[in-house]
Amino acid sequence: MTPWQATLAEARDDQTLLLVGGLIFLGVIVRAAAPEEGARLRVALWFLGLHLLLLPAAGTLRAYELSSYSDVRLPLLMFEILAVIEVTACFVFAVALPRAGLRSPRILRDVLVAAASVVMVFVLGSRAGLNLSGLIATSTVITAVVGLSLQDTLGNVMAGLFLQMDQSVQVGDWLKVGDLSGLVKETRWRYTSVETRNWETLIIPNGTLVKNQFMVLGRRQGRPRQWRRWVYFNVDFRYSPSDVIGAVSETLLAAPIVNVAADPPPNCILIDLHESYGRYAARYWLTDLAVDDPTDSAVRVRIYFALKRAGIPLSIPAHAVFMTEETQERKAIKSEEEERRRLQALSHVNVFDHLSEGDKLRLAAGLRYAPFARGEVMTRQGAVAHWLYMILTGGVSVRVAGERGVEREVSRLEAPGFFGEMSLMTGEPRAATVIALTDVECYRLDAATFQEIIREHPELAEKVAEVLAQRRADLLAAIEELGVEAQARAAVSKHDLLQQIKVFFGIGSGPGRS
Ligand code: CMP
Repeated sequence: MTPWQATLAEARDDQTLLLVGGLIFLGVIVRAAAPEEGARLRVALWFLGLHLLLLPAAGTLRAYELSSYSDVRLPLLMFEILAVIEVTACFVFAVALPRAGLRSPRILRDVLVAAASVVMVFVLGSRAGLNLSGLIATSTVITAVVGLSLQDTLGNVMAGLFLQMDQSVQVGDWLKVGDLSGLVKETRWRYTSVETRNWETLIIPNGTLVKNQFMVLGRRQGRPRQWRRWVYFNVDFRYSPSDVIGAVSETLLAAPIVNVAADPPPNCILIDLHESYGRYAARYWLTDLAVDDPTDSAVRVRIYFALKRAGIPLSIPAHAVFMTEETQERKAIKSEEEERRRLQALSHVNVFDHLSEGDKLRLAAGLRYAPFARGEVMTRQGAVAHWLYMILTGGVSVRVAGERGVEREVSRLEAPGFFGEMSLMTGEPRAATVIALTDVECYRLDAATFQEIIREHPELAEKVAEVLAQRRADLLAAIEELGVEAQARAAVSKHDLLQQIKVFFGIGSGPGRS
């Protein structure tokens, strides 16, 4: 037999052709379905290459019937079997099981592949006449050395398996170990890798996780994954804690904030009393643990605007010294400027066109500055509130819920627009929900201030009703597509409006508003 014929015979005996065909077939499927398996396929390719490399050598030795033939045949078969195990594992764990909806931990696959490889090496070795098990069993020194050097590694492997089996750590969990926290990416032979929010990767030996305590963030039995966060702020003692807590709680509950859970709802508490200020915390549950700081920031913005609206300043250090000299002249200039701004805002509200200059000045004095953060609900449809808003800067969206409760934007208002006149004048519930599209600055007028003026000049009511009726008609035109019921609600005659105004402000007939 020539070396060439012997090589072909060897290939036939080892089913090399079948092996190459089968592996290429499975390899193509794996590559298409799970491209991330590329590195493992390359390993299999290496084994296959080594097998093919040794084939002519084995053939030549076989042709000349040399005794070293059996020495080459053992690695020849080993490489072949390792290639088969590697590609089969890729196919089973990366293609077949995921398709069947089964996800297996990576470490389980690693352990199974390793165990299968060791078993096959032993089987082939003993078939070839090598007593590998005997070798290990009899050589106590080797056993001890191998055992000792593998102690930690084996410990980590077992720990990794336990962690997966009891599901104490799973891929996708957020872990806090010591001062560091991050997302569990994978559990491997030796370690679990955790990616922090700062783009660092924390490598934690599995044994360490099993032996020490660690925290799984946001995990609670039977509840969705969400993590409580605390956002602190300070307000000095001139302002009552109830007012602070009320203002902040209201704003946090009024409109949803991205990544803040609705259940449990956010809340605000007074957590400490310091020398000159109270320390407060807004607490909320974060739904996407990756965006902790940006969500804290969004909550802080809401708090800032809510406190501004309520006229509650954040505390300043008690030892701050103000050096600006507040002269009479300076004060006068400041208040003149403010008055001019207020009168200008009122001049854009045609409802007040018929008021005298003196009455407008009185209204101006009663205005309150009210800023809102983007996304805040400024009025809610159906709510009972008697304020009129004059927009100084920014824009708002007016939204009306139709017959089936579906809310739609019917209009957008920009500075110097106004809204809320209906409820202010008639006491009716809000006809629309108004949401801030940007940060918005407003002046707010309440019914009590207007009441004084209209009670003194009841004849004004008719003119106001006229303007209101016209505005109603305009608004109605904007919401033509709404249901019949909604249209009917909006279409009220000037006469009806006049009656409502009289009743609400207690002028003429009907009970008055206190
Ligand atoms: P009020 O009902 O007090 O509160 C909501 C306000 O939204 C309402 O007064 C109007 O000022 C305003 N509004 C209601 N419908 C529209 C609309 N179609 N276009 C513009 N503004 C509206």
